[in-house]
Amino acid sequence: MPSATAIAHPNIALIKYWGVRDRAINLPASGSLSMTLGGLETRTTVRFQDGLSGDIFELGGRLADKSSAARTSTHLDRIRALAESQSFAHIVSDNNFPASAGIASSASGFAALTLAAASALGLDLPPKELSVLARKGSGSAARSIFGGFVIWHNGADDESSFSEQLWPPEHWPLVDWIAVVDRSPKVTGSLDGHRLAETSPLQAARIASAADRLAECRHALAERDFQRLAEVVELDSNMMHAVMMTSTPPLLYWAPGSISLMKKIAAWRNSGIDVCATLDAGSTVHCLTTTEHETQVEALLRGSDEVRELYRGIPGPAARLVASADPAPAE
Ligand code: PMV
Repeated sequence: MPSATAIAHPNIALIKYWGVRDRAINLPASGSLSMTLGGLETRTTVRFQDGLSGDIFELGGRLADKSSAARTSTHLDRIRALAESQSFAHIVSDNNFPASAGIASSASGFAALTLAAASALGLDLPPKELSVLARKGSGSAARSIFGGFVIWHNGADDESSFSEQLWPPEHWPLVDWIAVVDRSPKVTGSLDGHRLAETSPLQAARIASAADRLAECRHALAERDFQRLAEVVELDSNMMHAVMMTSTPPLLYWAPGSISLMKKIAAWRNSGIDVCATLDAGSTVHCLTTTEHETQVEALLRGSDEVRELYRGIPGPAARLVASADPAPAE
């Protein structure tokens, strides 16, 4: 019974991916850049077993819903095809952060699944190949294969759209205070959201200027220039949300608490605090700050009525294989 266990971390996009050029293989509309979030993790064990009539996917201690299970099996099919295997698998996956946290578990989930399944089937793939494979499960998973600060090249085709590390985690110990402001589930997931991006009249302008923002973000990170980083990160997040809001049908991920917190964050930065806001496809506000200002930002967030829950992310490591602590699942 070949099996393997992998741990992967989610990531926060500093320059966002929104919109696909090729749906079948998740070729993104533009390149993106993220920070892998240590402290938050998905642990996944994949065990291929003879005699199963289909894959079994347990998520957080219970059988996953039909659509998550189907998406997982579709991804395993890609890995089975590479390994020329026909075996079904028992997959056990757990996040150490709640689903309500508004932290994209698809990035860490598909990165851990890709690594564990490939390893269990004896495929010894280099990280670049793993990122190409993980990308097809969930675009942002391509970035969670790597640790630290990670670029995902938009690429021209399947092979050239991969991620790589720009800097290791210790390059700049930024802190992401993840502020949950609304626990209601989001109406439209990113899978459907990406398909709507091209219906927005603003998407073309966003994509035309995406490479410039990515270059600006790289400069800011290279020089550890927080002000410069803050400006481009907020601009890029706002441009993505402007596209979301102007697509057909429109998507409004922000909650009243998101907007109120964004205004506070702008005022805090004006008063000299290193802090900026970025939001993925949800209402949760990721508040980036420096180690110098993290305690102050934490206190300000804990004192804010909008904030329901607070999690801390720091630049974290790459996806990796670990010894399985779980007993073999019952057959
Ligand atoms: O990987 P997906 O399909 O969950 O898309 C992620 C989309 C954003 O989180 C909104 C942006 C990003 O680059 O991570």
